[in-house]
Amino acid sequence: MGLNKDFLWGGATAANQMEGAYLEDSKGLSTADVVTAGSHEKKREITDTIKKDKYYPSHTAIDFYHKYKEDIALFAEMGFKCFRLSINWARIFPNGDEDTPNEKGLAFYDNVFDECLKYGIEPVVTISHYETPLHLAIEYGGWTSRKLIAFYERYCVTLFTRYHKKVKYWMTFNEINVINYLPWFAGGLKGRDEQNEYQAAHHQFIASAKAVKLGHSINPEIKIGMMIAYGTTYPETCNPEDVQKAAEVMQRKHFYTDVQCRGYYPKYKLKDFERNGIVIKMEEEDVQILKEGTVDYIGFSYYASSVSTNRKDAASVGGNMIRGIKNPYLEANAWGWQIDPIGLRIALNNLYERYELPLFIVENGLGSVDEINENGQIIDNYRIDYLARHISEMKKAVELDGVNLIGYTAWGCIDLVSAGTGEMKKRYGFIYVDRDDQGNGSLKRMKKKSFGWYKKVIATNGEDLNY
Ligand code: BG6
Repeated sequence: MGLNKDFLWGGATAANQMEGAYLEDSKGLSTADVVTAGSHEKKREITDTIKKDKYYPSHTAIDFYHKYKEDIALFAEMGFKCFRLSINWARIFPNGDEDTPNEKGLAFYDNVFDECLKYGIEPVVTISHYETPLHLAIEYGGWTSRKLIAFYERYCVTLFTRYHKKVKYWMTFNEINVINYLPWFAGGLKGRDEQNEYQAAHHQFIASAKAVKLGHSINPEIKIGMMIAYGTTYPETCNPEDVQKAAEVMQRKHFYTDVQCRGYYPKYKLKDFERNGIVIKMEEEDVQILKEGTVDYIGFSYYASSVSTNRKDAASVGGNMIRGIKNPYLEANAWGWQIDPIGLRIALNNLYERYELPLFIVENGLGSVDEINENGQIIDNYRIDYLARHISEMKKAVELDGVNLIGYTAWGCIDLVSAGTGEMKKRYGFIYVDRDDQGNGSLKRMKKKSFGWYKKVIATNGEDLNY
C-alpha cells in the first residue's frame, strides 16, 4: 500500500506568470506580454502592442529570471522531487519563425535545469504554456495557420536536442482544450470562433504528435505527455436530459484526450462538426501522423468540478475556464471555483478507465488572498486543508482503485501572476512573494505555514497529511 517510492511530488509554474525579464537577453514579445492585468470583475485586455498607460503583469511577474537560484533552493528545502516549469518560446525563437535559436535563451534554461538537478529535482517541462511568439499571432493568425506546425517542430527539435539528457518529462501544450475558452492564451487567436478554434486545435494535435515521434527518435527514454484542463462535470439531477447535457460537456474534454491518446478523431466529434458546419482542413498525411504520435502519459489540471443542466434559466458560476452552475453540496473559493476533492478521485478514475495510460496531476491548488498577521506570518490553513483533502482522495484513487499515477505538482508553488485574472492577490503558493496587483512590492520571498506542511507530506510520501 502507499504511493510508489519514486512518486514525483513537486510544484508547477509557467514562464509568463513567473519569469518577468520580458525583453531581456534578446527575448521576443509573446502573446502573454500584451495582456493587461484584470480582476475577478474585470476581464484582462489584449492590446496587440504594448501601451504606455497599461499595466502588464508578465513583464516583471515575480522575477524568477533573476531569482531562480533562491527559488529552487526553497523548493529543494521542501523536498521537491520535481519542478514543473514551461519554456518561453519567444526566449528561444524571439519571433518564432527564425532559422536559428537565441543562445542566451537556451543558456537560461540550461542554468535552471542544472540548478534543479543539483538538488535531485527532476524538471518537468511544458513546451507551450499559454504563450506563442507575438509575431506568429499577428502575422500568421496564430495556430489557425498550418505554418505554425513547422515552427513548433523546429522549436521542439532545438529543445529535445539540447535538453534531452536533463529533462525526462515533457508536455506539448498546456490545457490544450482551453483553445475553446481562451483562444488568445492557448493559440494566439483573436476573438471567439469555433471554426478557427478547432482548426487551430487540429494544427496543435499534428504538432504535438510530431513532437512525440521526434522526441522519441532523439531519446527513446524521454516521456512526452499531453496536458488538459480536466474536471468532472455532474448532471444537476437524474433527469436524463441533464445527464445527456453533462455527458456532452465531458465529450468536449474527451475529444482532446481521445485524439491525443488514441490517435484519431472520435466519431461523436466528427458528427458534431457536421451538425455545426465546422470543416477541418486536413492533409492526407495527418491520419498517419496522429496515429504515430500518441502520448506517453496524460498530464492534467484539476481545481474544481462543475454541474450541467438543461434548464435555460440557470445562472452560471466560475471555474477553471469551464463554467457550470452552482453545486449546493460544495463550497467555493472567493473566485467561485467549487471545491471538490472527491471529484479528483472521480477524474482520475475516468481518465484511467478510458485510456490506461499513466496519469500525472500537474496542477491542483487553492487560489486565495493571504494576509500577513501581526507576527509577520501567513497561517494558510485553508490552503493546507484544500490540498490535504485532495491528496487524500488522490491516494484513494491509487491505493483503492489501482490508478497508475506518476506524480502530483501543486500549482503556483511560489505565488505568481494569475492566468485568468492577471492578479497577484489570487495566490496559490507555499512561498509568499511581496508583490501587488499594481506592480508594487519588494519581490521578497517568505515561507507560509503550508511550506512546512508540504515538506512533511513529501517526506512521508503522503502518509502524514495532518497539520
Ligand atoms: C490553469 C493554468 O488554467 O490554471 C495556469 O494552466 C493557471 O496557467 C491556473 O494559472 C490557475 O488559474 P488562475 O486563473 O487562478 O491563475
